[in-house]
Amino acid sequence: GEDGESVVLLDQTRLPGRVEYRTVRDLKEMVEAIRTLRVRGAPAIGVFAGFCLSALARQMERAGLDTPGLLRELDRKGKILVSSRPTAVNLSWAVERMMDRASGLAGGAPEELAAALEAESRAIRREDEEMCRAIAEHGLSLLKAGDGVLTHCNAGPLATSRYGTALGPILLAGERGIPLRVFADETRPLLQGARLTAWELHQAGVDVTLICDNMASMVMKNGWVQACFVGCDRVAANGDTANKIGTSGLAVLARYYNVPFYVLGPTSTIDLECPTGADIPIEERDRDEGRTLYGTRTAPESVEVCNPAFDVTPHSLVTGIITEKGVIY
Ligand code: MRU
Repeated sequence: GEDGESVVLLDQTRLPGRVEYRTVRDLKEMVEAIRTLRVRGAPAIGVFAGFCLSALARQMERAGLDTPGLLRELDRKGKILVSSRPTAVNLSWAVERMMDRASGLAGGAPEELAAALEAESRAIRREDEEMCRAIAEHGLSLLKAGDGVLTHCNAGPLATSRYGTALGPILLAGERGIPLRVFADETRPLLQGARLTAWELHQAGVDVTLICDNMASMVMKNGWVQACFVGCDRVAANGDTANKIGTSGLAVLARYYNVPFYVLGPTSTIDLECPTGADIPIEERDRDEGRTLYGTRTAPESVEVCNPAFDVTPHSLVTGIITEKGVIY
């Protein structure tokens, strides 16, 4: 925000019906924005967390806290922010980076600390933009004019600072006049594919066809796609990848139909502390997300529901991981 004490976000829960911006100031509102997916997508959550800590530091500095007090409070608030969603590693990555910057200035004045954190949060965003651009270039080098690409969930500009990860190569192709065709899974239960991916691509003039999640097998069987491009929330050291629930099913289908399956993400999504996919924490969400569709009940009220937000694709099903540094096969 203009005052440096708030963060302005594009509320993704209102899309595609409404383009609505929301200003958050206190920690509770920040946590709520992440939990309810007003801000979502692994890199975007990280960038948002950076801005949140910067805003909180500025508020504390203006309230007159001394440096040790500010550092203590910031550490406590950072831990609460990290606990708002467990799977995307970019969140803790960004908070750690901000805290490292802060503790390096433990001897400085509170105003100095707040200014440094503001600069750091802007750097995180700028670097994310640069990484997405590089990912887009590497991804595009694997496609040719006329190709079809299948994607799942939303890994576009909304989920990052710009371009997106999985959608980056497609948007870059659009800028260069290279025709591609995208099939977007609607992505139940929260419809990120329908509400966000279809919206973003359609707005950008990309040839996009929305499909229900259960149509992917047919699309591959018919030879309509030459690659799958998906994002990631955390990549383990062995290449196992957590991404939106349903991603691993697509990878199994892609193997069967011989369609290359690529995971796209910045190196900030790779977690070398996680040896395998089994070590990645998977978020379980409210069961009502499975029983309702935007407020309308679509199942018996008390029926049991299984609602993990992510699944893990084993590295053996991943053709390559496309990062800003290149393609890892
Ligand atoms: O629950 P969401 O919508 O935050 O899940 C997001 C995804 O699974 C994305 O594919 C991932 O975060 C990569 S975004 C570039």
